[in-house]
Amino acid sequence: MAKQIWKGGALLAPLPAVLITSGDMENSNIATVAWTGIVNTIPPKTYISLRKSRYSYELIEKSREFVINLTTAEMVRKVDYCGIYTGRKVDKFQKCGFTKEAASAVAAPLIGESPLSLECRVTDMTDLGTHVMLLADILATDVDETLVDADGKLNLSRAHLAAYAHGEYFALGKKIGSFGFSAKKKKKPVKKGK
Ligand SMILES: Cc1cc2nc3c(=O)[nH]c(=O)nc-3n(C[C@H](O)[C@H](O)[C@H](O)COP(=O)(O)O)c2cc1C
Repeated sequence: MAKQIWKGGALLAPLPAVLITSGDMENSNIATVAWTGIVNTIPPKTYISLRKSRYSYELIEKSREFVINLTTAEMVRKVDYCGIYTGRKVDKFQKCGFTKEAASAVAAPLIGESPLSLECRVTDMTDLGTHVMLLADILATDVDETLVDADGKLNLSRAHLAAYAHGEYFALGKKIGSFGFSAKKKKKPVKKGK
């Protein structure tokens, strides 16, 4: 495959486009974030990277808490809206018609329409240049119960999650494998009887 060599850039894709809720039940805000990920399993740790100019940054710097709300294909227009307008000027919960729900471990609210929310407490803040990386413990996870099967297994494929790749939104589509499937032995074909 012939390759062009470009200078280093923020081109990892796909990424989740999540909605970050901050503040508390009275004074809350929502902002869209794509610079996020998981960085440790036990204890469960995540990060978000925010520009200092964001209203969300101001709120989270004070409370040191936020919620990561996963987004779905159905929510994507509102996801884009929350990434364009600032909560300094508009109440994005009201404007988008999202349901504000109380979290269990943090003061910041959850978005009721999100299939999965991670309640986070900031442990470290690192100024990296354009963005400040907020490293956080995941204290609680709120899961839409319609996605939990009878055996207790979370079935996220039913959530129609949204993804973000180089300025464009996508709906997660067809399942093409599952963890460890490459190592599983293929079932022998059943021999037909004579
Ligand atoms: C898809 C998408 C991803 C974004 N990712 C980030 C991000 O990772 N970090 C960030 O600081 N801003 C990001 N933004 C921009 C903020 O969401 C935007 O500036 C928003 O208006 C901030 O809202 P606030 O001022 O109410 O906090 C993103 C916007 C979009 C549309």
